[in-house]
Amino acid sequence: MGKNIAVIFGGTSSEYSVSLQSAASVLENFPKKYNAVPIWITRNGEWFRFWGSIDDIRADKLENCEKAILSPDRVSKCLITKAENITINAVFPVMHGMGGEDGTLQGLIELAGIPLCGCGTLSSAICIDKFRAHNLVSTAGIAVPKGNIFAKHDKIDSSEIELEIGFPVYVKPLRGGSSCGISRVANTDELIKAIKEAFEFDSEIIIEEEIKGFEAGCAVMGNDELITGEIDEIKIAGRFFDYTEKYTLKTSQILCPAPIAEEISNQIKQTAKTIYKTLGCKGFARVDMFLDENGNIIFNEVNTIPGFTEHSRFPSMMKAAGYEFSQVVEMIIEGAIK
Ligand SMILES: Nc1ncnc2c1ncn2[C@@H]1O[C@H](COP(=O)(O)OP(=O)(O)O)[C@@H](O)[C@H]1O
Ligand SMILES: [Mg+2]
Repeated sequence: MGKNIAVIFGGTSSEYSVSLQSAASVLENFPKKYNAVPIWITRNGEWFRFWGSIDDIRADKLENCEKAILSPDRVSKCLITKAENITINAVFPVMHGMGGEDGTLQGLIELAGIPLCGCGTLSSAICIDKFRAHNLVSTAGIAVPKGNIFAKHDKIDSSEIELEIGFPVYVKPLRGGSSCGISRVANTDELIKAIKEAFEFDSEIIIEEEIKGFEAGCAVMGNDELITGEIDEIKIAGRFFDYTEKYTLKTSQILCPAPIAEEISNQIKQTAKTIYKTLGCKGFARVDMFLDENGNIIFNEVNTIPGFTEHSRFPSMMKAAGYEFSQVVEMIIEGAIK
């Protein structure tokens, strides 16, 4: 009997649907030597052991399932269902955003003493916090956009923003994803609406300067010895890479490998590795940076559980570096079990 790997997906974040698509692709490319134990968390946060098909996951059709709980008990290391206790040898959370990618789920898995695929509690929690991640990364000598954090009760003075940061700015929920709640604001008139929208997603927001250039991503894998995928470049025709663009690519394009000089590509890979290590990442993560108009590399964010559909950036970057999707899934699981 192969080892049981729990694949957890869904969840209460605004990226629930993306998680279902990512999990379906991960399960389709699952290494034959392991048994996948799919666990579906609903939008309300209910946990189910799922027995249905991959197509059902894609179609958000939750049937063929039974209630399940991942036990925090370090001795039993199991998933408890009414019918049986299923031993779990590793957990692969394929979840995006809060309650899956933010360290809370990772805390439960670490508490249970079960090997975890990907980043642990601390690095997940730091990486999802766009402001604190910037602060830490800048201590490693890497440039970050100028910006500030605001809580709901803070007074936000638009003329101060104009003076200290300068328009256009990006207004973002502190711990979001998939561009949910993010606005590009060109002047003080648009600011109030953007702030209100961002606060609908989180209790803290950040307002940061616009970096002129393009966004470049780097897939990083490993624990001590790191490997990277090829760098990609996001070519946007509209204002920015918003939710619709990310999942339809109507006017944007993702170029992988990015059409940049090898020397710059190597510099970006090296910077991505430094960021990954600075933030304590493990297993895998996608490090997003900007290459500005003057050729400077500026940190944007780390996605500790990036999109994992067949068309997603992380698997495409790894593929461009010679690693098939199924190989990537196997490397992730093996990295955890080791
Ligand atoms: N400081 C910035 N300068 C230029 N573009 C930005 C900046 N911050 C965000 N963006 C644009 O907004 C998109 C989403 O922002 P990001 O911080 O990556 O949030 P998410 O976690 O939702 O992906 C980016 O892909 C980029 O197109
Ligand atoms: Mg992003």
